[in-house]
Amino acid sequence: MLLFAEELLQQHLTRMNILISSSLMILLSLCGTSASCPSGCSCNVNQTDCSDLNQLASLNSILDRLPLNTSYLNLSKNNFTIVEPGSFSNLRILTYLDLSRNLLSTINHGSFSNFSGLLHLDLSRNLLSTVSPSSFSQLNNLEFLDLSENVLVRLPVNMFSDLGSLTELVLRDNRLKELNPDQFKGLTELRRLDLSLNSLISMPTHLLDGLQNLVWLSLVGNKLRTLQQTTLEPATALQHLLLDGNPWNCNCNLIPLKHWLEWIMYTGGRVDSANCSSPSNLHGKDLRSIPMEMFRHCYPLYLETRNPSAAEGHQVPAEPAGDCIRQRYRPVSVRRATATVVVAGVVCGVVCVLMVVTATYGCIYATLVANEHQQLTHGNSQQQQPLMVAKEPEQDEKEDLMPTIGKGAEATECVGWMAFPPEVCV
Ligand SMILES: *[C@@H]1O[C@H](CO)[C@@H](O)[C@H](O)[C@H]1NC(C)=O
Ligand SMILES: *[C@@H]1O[C@H](CO)[C@@H](O)[C@H](O)[C@H]1NC(C)=O
Ligand SMILES: *[C@@H]1O[C@H](CO)[C@@H](O)[C@H](O)[C@H]1NC(C)=O
Ligand SMILES: *[C@@H]1O[C@H](CO)[C@@H](O)[C@H](O)[C@H]1NC(C)=O
Ligand SMILES: *[C@@H]1O[C@H](CO)[C@@H](O)[C@H](O)[C@H]1NC(C)=O
Ligand SMILES: *[C@@H]1O[C@H](CO)[C@@H](O)[C@H](O)[C@H]1NC(C)=O
Repeated sequence: MLLFAEELLQQHLTRMNILISSSLMILLSLCGTSASCPSGCSCNVNQTDCSDLNQLASLNSILDRLPLNTSYLNLSKNNFTIVEPGSFSNLRILTYLDLSRNLLSTINHGSFSNFSGLLHLDLSRNLLSTVSPSSFSQLNNLEFLDLSENVLVRLPVNMFSDLGSLTELVLRDNRLKELNPDQFKGLTELRRLDLSLNSLISMPTHLLDGLQNLVWLSLVGNKLRTLQQTTLEPATALQHLLLDGNPWNCNCNLIPLKHWLEWIMYTGGRVDSANCSSPSNLHGKDLRSIPMEMFRHCYPLYLETRNPSAAEGHQVPAEPAGDCIRQRYRPVSVRRATATVVVAGVVCGVVCVLMVVTATYGCIYATLVANEHQQLTHGNSQQQQPLMVAKEPEQDEKEDLMPTIGKGAEATECVGWMAFPPEVCV
C-alpha cells in the first residue's frame, strides 16, 4: 500500500517536472526568437510592416527591436537618411525589403553586407545620387532591384556585376545621361530592364550583350535620336520594346532599326509607337508605319546622281536628295552595289585620264611635227600659234574631267564624252 502510494507520488512528480520544463522551454523559445515588435510596427508571423511610422526613430533603433525571424520588412515612408554598414546582418532570413520613400542620398559599401538571402530590394523614391560600386556586391540572390525615382546621374560600372540572379532592374525616372557598355554585364538572368524617363542620349553598342533572357525593355522618355539595331540584336529573347517619347531622327540611319522592329513584330513581339521628331516631313509619324517609299532616297543607285554636298547633313531634306552617303548600316547587297559603282567609276576615271593624256600628247606631238614641217617650208612667221591652240582644249578637258571622277563617274558618261569604245570603260 505504502509502496503503491510512493510510486504514484513519484509518477506525479515526474509528470509535473516534464510539464514545468516543457512550459519553461516554450517560454524560453518565445523569448529567444524575438525582441518585441517595435512600437508603431505591425508584426505578423514573418512579416513586419514598419512603414510610415511618423516618428523620429533612427533606422538602427528600429532594426534592433525587430523579430529576428522577419522575412518581409516594409520600412517605406520614414524619412530615413542613412543605412549604416551591416544594419541588416542580424536578419538572417530577410528576403523582402522595402526602403522606398525615404531620404537616402547614398548607399555605401557594406550597407547590405551579409545579406545573401535577400530577393527583393526596393530603394525607389529616395534621393540617391551616388551609389558605391560594391554596395550590392553581396546580394548574389537578389531577383528584383528598384532604384526608380532617384537622382542618379551616373552608375559605377561594376555596380550590378555580382547580381547574377537579378531578373528585374528598374532605373526609371533618374537623370542618367549615359551608360557604360559594360554596365549590365553579368546580368544573364535579367528579364525586364526599365530605363525610361532618363536623359540618355545614346545606347552603347554592346550594352545588351549577354542579356539573352531580356524580354522587356523600356527606353521611353529619353533623348535618343538614333538607335542601332546591332545594339538590340544581342537581346535575342526580346519580346516587348518601348521606344516612345524620344526625339527620333528618322533618317536613313534608322532604316535598319525599322527593319528590325518589323521583324520583332512579325515574330509575335510587341513594339509600341516610336514617333519621329525629325526630319520635319516625318515629324510625329510613327516609325513603325512609315512606308519604305519615304526612304527611297537612301538607296545609293538613286543617290549617285544627286549632289554629294547634301550628304553631310543629318536631316532628310524635303526633296529626296542624298543624305545617306555616310550611313553605316546598309544591307550587304546595297553596300556591294555601291562598292561596284565606286570601283567602276575609279577604274573608268583612271582609264579616261590616261586616254586624255595620250590623246593630248599625240595631238601636241603631231602639231609640233606639223609645225616643224611648216617651219621648214614657210619660215618662222607663225611659229607659236598652233601650239597655243592645242593647249587650250587640254585645259578645258581637265576641268571637265575632275568633277566627273569625284562623283564616281558612270561608264556611259565617260563613253559619251570621250567617244571611246564601251568595253574600255566598263
Ligand atoms: C516569428 O516570431 C514571432 C514571435 O516573435 C512568432 O509569433 C512567429 O510565429 C514567428 N514566425 C515564424 C515563421 O517562425
Ligand atoms: C509598404 O508600405 C507602404 C506605405 O504604407 C505601402 O504603400 C507599400 O505598398 C508597402 N509595400 C509593400 C511591398 O507592401
Ligand atoms: C518626413 O518629412 C516630411 C517633411 O519633411 C514630413 O511632412 C513627414 O511627416 C515626415 N515623415 C515622417 C515619417 O517623419
Ligand atoms: C512566411 O513564412 C511562411 C511559412 O513559414 C512562408 O510560407 C512564407 O512564404 C513567408 N512569407 C514571406 C513573405 O517570406
Ligand atoms: C558578416 O558575417 C561574418 C561571419 O558570418 C562576420 O565575421 C562579419 O563581421 C559580418 N559582417 C558584417 C558587416 O556584419
Ligand atoms: C505618338 O503617336 C501616337 C499616335 O499618333 C500617339 O498616340 C502618341 O501619344 C504619340 N506619342 C508621343 C510621345 O507623342
